Amino acid sequence: MTRKITANAYMTLDGRGEFPKYPGSDRRSEEINALFREMWAKRYDDVTTVVMGRRSFLGHRRVWTEKARKPTDQEFLFEYSRYLDRVDKVCLSRTLKSPGWENSRIMKGDLGQILSKLKREKGGNIMVEGGPRVINEVARRNLADDYWFFIMPVVYGKGPRYWGNIPKGTQTTLKLVETVPGEDQEILLHYERIP
Ligand SMILES: NC(=O)c1ccc[n+]([C@@H]2O[C@H](COP(=O)([O-])OP(=O)(O)OC[C@H]3O[C@@H](n4cnc5c(N)ncnc54)[C@H](OP(=O)(O)O)[C@@H]3O)[C@@H](O)[C@H]2O)c1
Repeated sequence: MTRKITANAYMTLDGRGEFPKYPGSDRRSEEINALFREMWAKRYDDVTTVVMGRRSFLGHRRVWTEKARKPTDQEFLFEYSRYLDRVDKVCLSRTLKSPGWENSRIMKGDLGQILSKLKREKGGNIMVEGGPRVINEVARRNLADDYWFFIMPVVYGKGPRYWGNIPKGTQTTLKLVETVPGEDQEILLHYERIP
């Protein structure tokens, strides 16, 4: 079975990788909502490798391990943390010497070659989880089989940019396969690579 590569990105309307507040965004829910399930929970059975740029990897290591959970956190957050602890994680870095997180390894080099190498390894699907710089390269070079974009209804004006430095003349055209509306005016856009 070929390992599918999915790129996953959350962003504001102006393409910033932040979670700003907007009406409904800070409502606490014990139950997982449809968008969290689609973006982060649906993968537990089939995604066995998660790829992150060094900055995102270190951010996730700080806040998403099970050890980092607070006792008051909802069970679905614990479940996601347990998943991230156990999944094979690839940290892209030319500077980090040791990942310092179980089931993690560091890879460096050309991103297209790294993803091709991962694709040839045994395992389930592969999720490229960010950050914006890595997603930018994946989208610019069309390296993923499909893409999920979680768009929040805010023009934010700050935070890391996904689309800041796309060279002139670059074009990636994707096929929209699904849109999933959220409860609070967010939207998920699911695209596939055009073969
Ligand atoms: N899903 C997410 O995690 C997510 C989503 C949205 C926003 N954010 C936020 O975005 C920020 C980080 O995103 P970012 O775009 O600035 O950085 P990033 O993509 O997480 O990491 C960039 C780093 O990845 C390494 N890298 C990338 N490609 C590589 C390659 N082919 N070979 C070797 N190393 C490679 C380099 O690390 P070295 O410098 O070590 O070589 C590079 O500096 C954080 O503030 C985070 O909170 C994260």
